[in-house]
Amino acid sequence: MSYLLSLSLSGLSPGKSQAVLVTLDGNNWVETSQERLREGRNVPPASRSASVRPMKPPTLFSEEEIADQVAILAAEIDEAYADADQLVLIGVLKGSFIFLADLARKLTIPHRVEFIAVSSYGAKESDVADSVRLLMDVRHPIVGEHVLLVEDIVDTGHTLAYLKRLLEARNPASLKTATMLHKPDRTEEEVDIDFLGFTIPDVWVVGYGLDYAERYRTLPYIGELPPEMR
Ligand code: IMP
Ligand code: MG
Repeated sequence: MSYLLSLSLSGLSPGKSQAVLVTLDGNNWVETSQERLREGRNVPPASRSASVRPMKPPTLFSEEEIADQVAILAAEIDEAYADADQLVLIGVLKGSFIFLADLARKLTIPHRVEFIAVSSYGAKESDVADSVRLLMDVRHPIVGEHVLLVEDIVDTGHTLAYLKRLLEARNPASLKTATMLHKPDRTEEEVDIDFLGFTIPDVWVVGYGLDYAERYRTLPYIGELPPEMR
């Protein structure tokens, strides 16, 4: 996807405008220079051009900070389930898939992996939930199992509260929750979090599985998305 913007800038001669090509390249908005555009129709892929300036959301938690925290969580979880035979990890799609993959590979307790998918009713894709709908259920029964729900972020709390009610009704041996991020300032529905990565203020975060309208999900770090990048 690319947008050709024509801007009139002060400092240019009257009547002249400056063209700027802005391209969405994977997760990044990139800007191609005036010189590149003057070269003609065949503007090379922005990511291969020396004149490209990638626009990345500022880092909130680096890859290293995330990896350290995931290792701490895995150790806490191993300890909490030391007496259990096995654990069922249920990742909440889509946001938790990267956190779940990293966490699961750090656990020493035997476990199986399930996924569940929910969707929130909101006016826009970037809206958070005020009511939640089940899109895809787990494959196998969880009755009598030790279940750990794995979420990317707890915002209002509606999603986690809904999932806890849904799964508790199936009589697991135990049900706990792990979430990478929590925004306590946004809480509308109180829900216990047993294993928490980081507490954050009321900002929109992307990367490490988290998206904004399906963008930025595969950034390797957690960034804060400023309004101009939405
Ligand atoms: P809830 O409001 O706690 O139900 O959160 C619903 C969902 O909104 C989360 O599971 C995320 O998928 C999404 N969400 C909430 N805040 C953010 C954010 O800052 N970035 C990306 N997704 C978010
Ligand atoms: Mg989510």
